[in-house]
Amino acid sequence: MTQDELKALVAQAAIEHVVPGALVGVGTGSTVNHFIDALAKIKDRIAGAVSSSVQSTERLRRHGIPVVEAAALDKPLPVYVDGADEIDHHGYMIKGGGAALTREKIVADLAERFVCIADESKLVDTLGRFPLPVEVITMAAPQIARRFEAMGATATLRLGVTTDNGHPILDVRGLKIADPLALETEINQWPGVVTVGIFARHKASLCLLGTAGGVRTLRF
Ligand code: 5RP
Repeated sequence: MTQDELKALVAQAAIEHVVPGALVGVGTGSTVNHFIDALAKIKDRIAGAVSSSVQSTERLRRHGIPVVEAAALDKPLPVYVDGADEIDHHGYMIKGGGAALTREKIVADLAERFVCIADESKLVDTLGRFPLPVEVITMAAPQIARRFEAMGATATLRLGVTTDNGHPILDVRGLKIADPLALETEINQWPGVVTVGIFARHKASLCLLGTAGGVRTLRF
């Protein structure tokens, strides 16, 4: 199976975790695009979606799926479905390859469960091979980059990219993230950091992993 077929497989499997009659939180990316397409087939059985990006909102609306603003929620979402750039054996993730990390973390925070959908290439022992995305306030970018350099890493601005919130992204290479919770907490303290792409406080509840042998479910 190709990587894209594996993504479609796990996206379809995630439909079983959607709660009938409720809103569903929807992430961003190529795997989530398959999920949105699968969701369209059961759109009459859900109340609608809360989206994590302009890109996903547009795709949801094209399918006629109602999109509800996150700020309008008065109770938790039962489930949030999203992809990952890396996921480890504890459910900790790196996200933000598609620059949607801030809204993804906000919608994940509104949900009771995070269902991660990913092909098996995303499963790692230690996070950090994928460059860590960090959304920053522009005037703080050089100082934040220096802090990463002091850790032995290299931070570069993602060229030509601003997020849906109008901020740049630093991609950080050379980190070996042995303690994702501690590093997320540390980076969150730095002035000018909007969101760091470590999802440890908002880790996956389960991961539907696409493998050559079918869908493997990892529970955390
Ligand atoms: C976007 C993300 C995505 O979930 C992540 O980049 C995975 O994307 P894909 O499903 O295209 O591999 O965090 O900000």
